[in-house]
Amino acid sequence: MHWKIDSSLQIVIVGLGYVGLPTAVAFSKKYKTIGVDVNQKRVDELNQGIDSKNIVKQESLKNNAALVFQHHLPTNKQRTVFIVTVPTPVNGEKEPDLSFLEAATSSISSVLKKGDIIVYESTTYPGCTEEICIPTVESVSGFKLNEGFGVGYSPERYSPGETKRIESIVRVTSGSNSEVAKMVDELYRSVLDVETHLAPSIKVAEAAKLVENCQRDVNISFVNELALIFDKMGIETNDVLSAAKTKWNFLDFKPGLVGGHCISVDPYYMIHKARTLDYYPKVIGAGRLVNEEMGKFAAHKAMKTITAQGLNLIGLRILVLGFAYKENCSDFRNTKVLDLVNELKDFGALVSVYDPLVDRVSVLNEMGLELVEELDFRTNTVVIFAVNHFEFGHIKFENSSTLQIKPFA
Ligand SMILES: NC(=O)c1ccc[n+]([C@@H]2O[C@H](COP(=O)([O-])OP(=O)(O)OC[C@H]3O[C@@H](n4cnc5c(N)ncnc54)[C@H](O)[C@@H]3O)[C@@H](O)[C@H]2O)c1
Repeated sequence: MHWKIDSSLQIVIVGLGYVGLPTAVAFSKKYKTIGVDVNQKRVDELNQGIDSKNIVKQESLKNNAALVFQHHLPTNKQRTVFIVTVPTPVNGEKEPDLSFLEAATSSISSVLKKGDIIVYESTTYPGCTEEICIPTVESVSGFKLNEGFGVGYSPERYSPGETKRIESIVRVTSGSNSEVAKMVDELYRSVLDVETHLAPSIKVAEAAKLVENCQRDVNISFVNELALIFDKMGIETNDVLSAAKTKWNFLDFKPGLVGGHCISVDPYYMIHKARTLDYYPKVIGAGRLVNEEMGKFAAHKAMKTITAQGLNLIGLRILVLGFAYKENCSDFRNTKVLDLVNELKDFGALVSVYDPLVDRVSVLNEMGLELVEELDFRTNTVVIFAVNHFEFGHIKFENSSTLQIKPFA
């Protein structure tokens, strides 16, 4: 096989979420691109130029002849690069849930043609592509790796809520042999404004992605642990960090809630893989334990402030601002605000939650929590700033006696 890119190549993005949709838009600037999602509602909305997740601008979807959205994989004869951007969450036991990856792999394998390439972008543990995905492709399609089809792995580094475009983010690329790797690398370079880093193997590229998020998780867990300790000492963590970071080589991390589909999930993939090799990661595991507890800690910090004001928690009306897993984004997967809310409720408070960026219907369906539609301070004695959305910085309180609490300020 000759693995080369040319302008007749068709790109099929499988999974049109936070990662897949901007990826589809980026590739459509150079190639005929088809975005596929199993969620028919999502496909219908995108075809009308509506992105309910607010990831891309409407003009990128409307009047873009090179980009089409559909519910099923294409079966035409054009040589295709499939890019897989489906979720890789954890289950209730915090073990990798590969069901989306496996389902997408099987579907692609059933329409695969000789000479096609599958590039995985979904985050996973080192070895997953070679041990789980490739054997499925070979058995369903009947083709042999590097003879009938090629495989690449190129982890996405997109961060919801930040203004960085994916075209401006340096990419790690890899492939199932040196020719495929070169082609995958060239393909990404052809749509990016920046360089790529061609990793020596798929495993290395998979590991690099996990390391990036494990590193952030562990670093945040360290300052979160400091917050737990300094709370007991009665000193402000941010005052300590402001003083400490005047040292030239101090690492500037802030305490806070760690949720979402990346930092709060990916370390479990590393832990899973290490455990299969008979090693239990102490540092990574400890970081997870600390960060998992921070929603409850934020609630207890708020309750301390409330009771210090002589207020009784039972029946107290509290408004929590923000439900997304982090500031300025609509994503509420694994949000630790839920732990904060549940803890306050357990202590008898009447809690309502407001977040203008997240989809209220999805929160109700997925988490059983009804968010309030309008910001109304009149009935609430206490307001807790759980997520620092930009617009919460401009709120004017009609009643100056409203107790405002910022657990991580
Ligand atoms: N969200 C991020 O910021 C981010 C950043 C870097 C990497 N990642 C990784 O990228 C991957 C995707 O994450 P996401 O946040 O974009 O997920 P998402 O939930 O926003 O989107 C995934 C989409 O895939 C669709 N889907 C599921 N199974 C499918 C199938 N078999 N065929 C077609 N479509 C299917 C879903 O309907 C959904 O629309 C994950 O592995 C994640 O860890 C995410």
